[in-house]
Amino acid sequence: MNRNIIWLDRCDSTMIQAARLAGEGAPHFTVVGADEQTAGQGRLGRSWHSEPGAGLYVSIILRLPQAGLLTMALGLATSEAIGAPCDLRWPNDVMVGRKKCAGILVTAEHGAFICGIGINLNHTWFPPEIAEIATSLRIETGREQSRKVILDKLLAAVERWIAVDRATVLETFTQRSSWVRGKRVVVEGVHGVTDGLDEDGFLWLRLQDGTRHRILAGGVREE
Ligand code: BTN
Repeated sequence: MNRNIIWLDRCDSTMIQAARLAGEGAPHFTVVGADEQTAGQGRLGRSWHSEPGAGLYVSIILRLPQAGLLTMALGLATSEAIGAPCDLRWPNDVMVGRKKCAGILVTAEHGAFICGIGINLNHTWFPPEIAEIATSLRIETGREQSRKVILDKLLAAVERWIAVDRATVLETFTQRSSWVRGKRVVVEGVHGVTDGLDEDGFLWLRLQDGTRHRILAGGVREE
């Protein structure tokens, strides 16, 4: 596929720049990347630590008829691009060991999906407030990572995964994630043991009283 890649030295957030370009009619699979983000955005209104030059910060404009299981497909694509053994924490955090090394944020703007992917590549430290929960590929593997190589793998994997049918996305995510079944977690104050995904990709929790509770969104943490 012809890729339209726009690379910026510095921007507020590639989410903002990609949304602006989507509003101007940028085509499907336009990729906006930056060396540095001054206002990187995370899920649930959080910020995304974007050390200049250390990470891969991209937003991909996807013009798809519906979101389907897009965030999960992007999680699978990101974990494949990373290569190192990793885990997927529902809905789409990419973990190496117990720490997060990549995150995904999807918004809908101007009739397109803006798919933000941040991968911690060559960070050697993190600010104290996230040092316990964040890691980078460099820290985990001891090797310098090539942003270009990972970007190429990522775009190829995204292309592949957005074309995959829902059942395969659900099945593969379930196979590759240790978080989907049998993990004792807390989600926004609700405690339970994870009990699989429903057909829309929502997460079932088995509560202590035996009932099942469906998680539609939120941050899942191990208890
Ligand atoms: C999360 O796990 O909270 C989602 C993090 C998403 C970060 C990426 S970095 C590229 C793109 N631009 C942003 O401002 N956010 C996403």
